[in-house]
Amino acid sequence: MGSPSPSRSQVLSLFPFALASILTIGIVKLYLENSHSVRIRLHPARRSYPAGFISPSEASVVSQCNVFDGRWVFDNATRPLYREQSCPYLTKQVTCRKNGRPDSLYQNWRWKPNDCELPKFDAITLLEILRDKTMMLIGDSIQRTQWESLVCLIQSSIIGGRKSLYRDPPMKIFYAEEFNAKIVFYWNPFIVESNSDHALKHTVYKRLVNLDSVEKHSKHWKGVDVLVFESYVWWMYKPVINATNGPSHQIQEYNVTNAYRMAMKTWANWIESNVDPRTQRVFFMSPSPTHLWSWEWRPGSDENCFNETHPIEGRSYWGTGSSIEIMGAVADVLREMKINVTYMNITQLSEFRKDGHTTVYTERRGKLLTKEQKADPKNYGDCIHWCLPGVPDTWNEILYAYLLHEFYHLFNTTR
Ligand SMILES: *[C@@H]1O[C@H](CO)[C@@H](O)[C@H](O)[C@H]1NC(C)=O
Ligand SMILES: *[C@@H]1O[C@H](CO)[C@@H](O)[C@H](O)[C@H]1NC(C)=O
Ligand SMILES: *[C@@H]1O[C@H](CO)[C@@H](O)[C@H](O)[C@H]1NC(C)=O
Ligand SMILES: *[C@@H]1O[C@H](CO)[C@@H](O)[C@H](O)[C@H]1NC(C)=O
Ligand SMILES: *[C@@H]1O[C@H](CO)[C@@H](O)[C@H](O)[C@H]1NC(C)=O
Ligand SMILES: *[C@@H]1O[C@H](CO)[C@@H](O)[C@H](O)[C@H]1NC(C)=O
Repeated sequence: MGSPSPSRSQVLSLFPFALASILTIGIVKLYLENSHSVRIRLHPARRSYPAGFISPSEASVVSQCNVFDGRWVFDNATRPLYREQSCPYLTKQVTCRKNGRPDSLYQNWRWKPNDCELPKFDAITLLEILRDKTMMLIGDSIQRTQWESLVCLIQSSIIGGRKSLYRDPPMKIFYAEEFNAKIVFYWNPFIVESNSDHALKHTVYKRLVNLDSVEKHSKHWKGVDVLVFESYVWWMYKPVINATNGPSHQIQEYNVTNAYRMAMKTWANWIESNVDPRTQRVFFMSPSPTHLWSWEWRPGSDENCFNETHPIEGRSYWGTGSSIEIMGAVADVLREMKINVTYMNITQLSEFRKDGHTTVYTERRGKLLTKEQKADPKNYGDCIHWCLPGVPDTWNEILYAYLLHEFYHLFNTTR
């Protein structure tokens, strides 16, 4: 990759004060947004899948090719994989076109790994894999966007059956009745326990993380068939973070990288003693990059990702928003674990996509930006979250490729 790691002062300014509020939207949403509940009954048109419904060649893609290494190709014939207006589960935060974004090219890029093609996403195959199962995506608002993307990728294929969405805070649950499959989003910005876990009693600026406690959350992860974890931006507010590691009155400031590593170890211990690798699968998402400073890709400019309509070109690009130190900490912890956890290394591929963020075509604190705020992208542009359809769809295509791989053997021996 050959890119320099960000200096400390750059990391220090990663998420300016004004941007911190962006991160809270999701949790407010869990409570305020109207619940969509769609009940549809059409002619049963279910395809029937024989035992070996996963193709061996598609199942082997991720074992034979580094799917994270590649480039974006313009492909308006097959992208986007679903339409913004035809997915009823998208929240206002991500519906950029509806919120006034004038360009739409950001929806037309397909990820092409250098040495292979990604398997074609097939919603019914995924639902068959998830039959009688629960898949849970755990993390912050970035992870919620990935969950929304996943729900949109499959929901239009559920015909002749029922689908519904319901809330059980801190969870949002999509249920495909015919397959008895649940796809759950679980709000938990630090993975371990923190004072940001609850919508009504949480503070954005006075973050406090309990590095050695995870039980409050992990009891909801028990027995879940596919677990996908993500945690990053909430850590990156300052170079140090207030945390406890032991008695709850012993609060001190920890170096963020060290704190992150300690939290990861707490999490890893839980995974090792509670996950059965014969039946359960665990994934960990690498950081979702931000594009807060346009001088990083266009030297001399002084803006952010607003107005960007094309991906960054070239073999690699690395902005200061993606902490190599934290990525290294995750990789170290995963390598030492007794259970295989797949590291979904989506940072580099997403780094190219300076054009994919919601900028001013989004909401803050549950409200769409006003005309005045929209006219001030420097202060109100969100270069952290992503529009849908968009970049998180690709993360899910890759996750799908891994699920084909992970479940191929299981289905071909037991069904
Ligand atoms: C796809 O892109 C090509 C080249 O830019 C353009 O000519 C064509 O009209 C586009 N098709 C659609 C469906 O947008
Ligand atoms: C945090 O600790 C790491 C080593 O674990 C060090 O490389 C890094 O510079 C420290 N960061 C700060 C802000 O002190
Ligand atoms: C940690 O907490 C103390 C006491 O509330 C506060 O003064 C300090 O600014 C906090 N540090 C960070 C990094 O938030
Ligand atoms: C964004 O693009 C429009 C049209 O090209 C231009 O008028 C405007 O000045 C640009 N704004 C910024 C902040 O770059
Ligand atoms: C993740 O991808 C980056 C960029 O492609 C690479 O430098 C890094 O080594 C990868 N990390 C792991 C743990 O594979
Ligand atoms: C982890 O996965 C690798 C490659 O698929 C395999 O060789 C190894 O035995 C697995 N380790 C454990 C502990 O299951």
